[in-house]
Amino acid sequence: MKILVINGPNMNLLGLREPEIYGKKTYKDLVALLQHEADSLGVEISFVQSNHEGDLVDAIQNAYPETNGILINPAAYTHTSVAILDALKAVAIPAVEIHMSNVNERDEFRKTSYVREACIATCMGKGFDSYIEALHKLLTYLNEAK
Ligand code: DQA
Repeated sequence: MKILVINGPNMNLLGLREPEIYGKKTYKDLVALLQHEADSLGVEISFVQSNHEGDLVDAIQNAYPETNGILINPAAYTHTSVAILDALKAVAIPAVEIHMSNVNERDEFRKTSYVREACIATCMGKGFDSYIEALHKLLTYLNEAK
């Protein structure tokens, strides 16, 4: 089972950016946590982070056809990107939308998610645990779909 984790703009600055919202742990910590969880579950996991919308589209396209599932935190592009939505729809790889914060309880513009339509679930508001929850949801979905 191959899982790809995609993180969008500014997620490389975890630990530095708005620690009152995103906490003090770094992107490297996030990768280590997910790698450890994936190892214990016996799944193969890889990671892409980019600040550029086109790179995220490329990562989704390149995931086809080998990748079984995608975990995606498109960060700010969640609220703007038709291109990421279309890429997810194009490859039709089951994907879970992730946010560390609860985007429904912040600015009005964060309530809009373009990518949600192409995702099987959304996990948000739990910091790094949003990713762990999302990984488990995705694996449950993929195992049931077998
Ligand atoms: C985020 C929420 C987005 O609104 C924001 O632009 C981010 C991070 C989150 O993980 O909570 O960069 O996706």
